[in-house]
Amino acid sequence: MKVLVTGGMGYIGSHTVIELLKSKKFKVISADNCERSTPETASRIELITGEKVMNYPVDIAEKESFFKIFEENPDVEAIIHFAAYKSVPESVAKPLLYYRNNLQVLENVLEACAKFHVHNLIFSSSCSVYGEVSDLPVNELTPLREPFSPYAHTKQIGEKMIEFYAQMNPSLKAVNLRYFNPVGADMSGKNGELSPDKPNNLLPIITQVAIGKLSRLTVFGTDYPTRDGTCIRDYIHVSDIATAHIQALQFLIDKKNEHAVEVFNLGSGQGVTVFEMVHAFEKVIQKTLPVQIGERRAGDVSAIYSDSSKAEKLLGWVPQYSLDDMVDSAWRWELYLQNVL
Ligand code: WQD
Repeated sequence: MKVLVTGGMGYIGSHTVIELLKSKKFKVISADNCERSTPETASRIELITGEKVMNYPVDIAEKESFFKIFEENPDVEAIIHFAAYKSVPESVAKPLLYYRNNLQVLENVLEACAKFHVHNLIFSSSCSVYGEVSDLPVNELTPLREPFSPYAHTKQIGEKMIEFYAQMNPSLKAVNLRYFNPVGADMSGKNGELSPDKPNNLLPIITQVAIGKLSRLTVFGTDYPTRDGTCIRDYIHVSDIATAHIQALQFLIDKKNEHAVEVFNLGSGQGVTVFEMVHAFEKVIQKTLPVQIGERRAGDVSAIYSDSSKAEKLLGWVPQYSLDDMVDSAWRWELYLQNVL
């Protein structure tokens, strides 16, 4: 089966391409304009898997050029849709950029599904759709509350767009995967997060501070109602997230879905504070990070972590990697970049 991965040169997209190719069950093509990724990722994917992946350098918001991919690849039977902007703070600063990009791109993906008879869609959603929840851990039945950022709102709207569209196009089957906090790098150490801009996320900033690219880590707020005053998140290894996409695709292919659109949480189930993540990293690399305390960051919820038992039960998904694996692989990737860039 041929699968089109949108954003296949990006962080989670490239790790999913690696697992798709490793499974030997799928032909894979990517559509990624590399605005927030690098085309060289394709060569690193080949280095790891021994398989080539064709990336179409198109902006998926440009419908004509995006649709050309399907005209050239009439055998595409599934789309895994990652291409979106994903920074909480950036979405607070630039809301229209997020609404325009994330929703326009999804609209074109959905139109392509109907136009080119693609019946299987996996959507990259996010735990941020839950908003600020007091009753933790969250499961898929937890009601979605007020989104805390435009980013989170685009994911809430995206899930609803897919549900309404699937009602009108009964041949379309979809899975919304709600990632918690994907971190780490491929265990080979040869692929990881590589954005041309300065990272916004905690672990890539920690590794850049540790290697000296950034001078210090600012902890955004220590007055949250948590065990050490810093925000709690559910960190999950990016390769565990990637594997879940293969299992979700197989779930659709095997027609195991009870509803047209199924939703799954993808998290480790373990809540980790910012300070605990810093200490885990310091333990792995055996050095102390320069840290300063700053104000709270707009858009942050104080705590969220997952109950992912539905994915385990219905997809057979069991995370393989520990928090130490996450920080160790992230650090080895930072070292790899230092040697190759
Ligand atoms: C985590 C915590 C920050 C940087 C991410 C993705 C989003 C979604 C969910 C997939 C927060 C704190 C951070 C720093 C800090 N994933 N922090 N200093 O905001 O939970 O969202 O995961 O869809 O796409 O963006 O992750 O890593 O930005 O922040 O104190 O320099 O670390 O305040 O509490 P977030 P994050």
